[in-house]
Amino acid sequence: MPELPLNLKAALNKIDTPAYVMDVSLLKRNMIVADRVRTEAKCKVLLATKSFAMPAVFPIMRDYLDGTTASGLYEARLGFETFSKEVHVYSPAYTEGEVVELLKFSDNIYFNSIDQIKRFSPIVRAAGPNKKIGIRINPGYSKATLGGHLYDPCAPNSRFGVIKEQLDGLPWDDIDILHAHALCEALHDGSLGLIEHVGKEFGKYIRRVKEVNFGGGHFINDPGYDVDVLIKALNDFRASYPHVGVAIEPGSGLVRNAGYLVSTVLDVLYNACEIAVLDTSAACHMPDVLEVPYTPEIFGAGEAGAYPHTYVLGGKTCMTGDIIGTYSFSTPLKAGDKLVFTDMMQYSFVKNNSFNGTPLPDLAVLHEDGRYEIVRRFGYEDFKLKLCAIS
Ligand SMILES: Cc1ncc(COP(=O)(O)O)c(C=O)c1O
Repeated sequence: MPELPLNLKAALNKIDTPAYVMDVSLLKRNMIVADRVRTEAKCKVLLATKSFAMPAVFPIMRDYLDGTTASGLYEARLGFETFSKEVHVYSPAYTEGEVVELLKFSDNIYFNSIDQIKRFSPIVRAAGPNKKIGIRINPGYSKATLGGHLYDPCAPNSRFGVIKEQLDGLPWDDIDILHAHALCEALHDGSLGLIEHVGKEFGKYIRRVKEVNFGGGHFINDPGYDVDVLIKALNDFRASYPHVGVAIEPGSGLVRNAGYLVSTVLDVLYNACEIAVLDTSAACHMPDVLEVPYTPEIFGAGEAGAYPHTYVLGGKTCMTGDIIGTYSFSTPLKAGDKLVFTDMMQYSFVKNNSFNGTPLPDLAVLHEDGRYEIVRRFGYEDFKLKLCAIS
């Protein structure tokens, strides 16, 4: 199991827990990879803010990326206000009011169905020549590597994107961008497969648009991902369709292994096994642990039995299943010990909740010079405001 990085070790005693900590040096390492894709494949790279949205580090990311892509009105507005580059938005369905409002924040609005695009594209067109209209297709191909059908956009009966048999019914004269999001934590073979599949199966439609967006799920900063394969696939695609621009919109792939969730052991108890209760919770602070499900890594810990002292780690909510996993340690755990979960920037704080009134972790940044900065601390007022009228 990896040891605690030295910069984090040096900052650990300053960190009040729980805290999500973005490590700027690791973020920059990831951004350099994204920038390579941008320059060597002449491909737009957009940050999917559904996965990661920490405006405190957007000034760093902005230099390496083309903009953001949103899941709806609020994320689009956040991207517009805090990232301040291109804003793209896709939602499985919009209300008319949302489309009107979105036009203030986004120049690239993607629709999911024939009905939605026919109803709302006149509104987008009327807003001016810089507004672009996208359509999400269901390419009928996926290499989602997570969670089976739960994260496969092309799963049977998926509601995402227009299926191939219906594509002739779209108003192609009115469409600027073809969008094919089909991956989830895919390695280079998944990216390559999708790009080749779309190029082979949808040429008739690609010739009608100005841009093709290959969606998210390209896990470009995973140690197993060969970025050269993606760059070559994008360049080959552009050689076949020289008139189109290309884009990808990863979330997780941009912040892979770039930050942590730091927690503290509150208590240790015994019921047929050793149990440690933490000040963080799977149910509240790392919901993907239960949803996907998966077991996150902890610096210095191993799987059950790998080291002499094995514990089930649980959160402090009332939910019996609020279990993060079973881990082993070289020394016994005690109240006050700090545990650091690795790779905790994606789909963590964007999804967290305060069930049971559980406090939300700080959002924090570990700077390259070792400075530890809390960018947001939450308190009782944040909990109360979600439940009460504002007085
Ligand atoms: C349309 C769309 N784009 C981009 C993404 C980002 O995916 P990831 O964070 O896996 O890269 C998602 C994730 O669900 C998505 O639905």
